[in-house]
Amino acid sequence: MTVYPKESLEAFPPHSFGNYRSTVKRSPRKPLVVIPHTLSELTGPVYGHEVVHPGDEDLTKQHAGEPLGERIIVHGRVLDEDGRPVPDTLVEIWQANAAGRYIHVVDQHPAPIDRNFTGAGRIATDAEGRYKFVTVKPGAYPWGNHHNAWRPNHIHFSVFGHSFLSRLVTQMYFPGDPLFPFDPIFNSVTDEKARQRMISSFDLENTIPDWALCFRFDIVLRGREATPQDTDKH
Ligand SMILES: [Fe+2]
Repeated sequence: MTVYPKESLEAFPPHSFGNYRSTVKRSPRKPLVVIPHTLSELTGPVYGHEVVHPGDEDLTKQHAGEPLGERIIVHGRVLDEDGRPVPDTLVEIWQANAAGRYIHVVDQHPAPIDRNFTGAGRIATDAEGRYKFVTVKPGAYPWGNHHNAWRPNHIHFSVFGHSFLSRLVTQMYFPGDPLFPFDPIFNSVTDEKARQRMISSFDLENTIPDWALCFRFDIVLRGREATPQDTDKH
């Protein structure tokens, strides 16, 4: 049976990270209670390709015209901790438009909404765990966490993997962003190597001449066949 070790979560940021203000109030005050995995959590169906429609992976073709901004390709593979591809799993993204504005009622950033851009896409990975999106590069935006707080350019990702317990919600960043040292969300991942894994790499090989730059972003989910800890003391 698939069991995910607690150690798989070590790269995750703490629930409360002081510089990221909203985590202070929303994080638990008491130590978490570890609950054994249930059979339905491990074997229950997760979202898959049946909810994905052709074209959902191209965020530049969801409206009458093309969105403004720098067209980009974002692709990569979904792997488990043992380096095996995770096929047929749902990858969803959401992002701001090129001006740094989300289509959301609480987004009051005075930057223009693009009527040709919603900012959401999804795709199921293929047999090799691959996914590919076409979109525009999201702009930086202010977020009020502290004085002069700006989020680095980023794309939000949700990846389900084999079960609900392997679902990962993360953000993809772009290489060389000058805002990295000032962003508490990026820095709430305290391990330097783990932070680097959230930054995509520029992919010249898959950049399409005269059309779009390409960025590569591989995603590693919790292991699917990790050996469980032996807790039986009898
Ligand atoms: Fe965001």
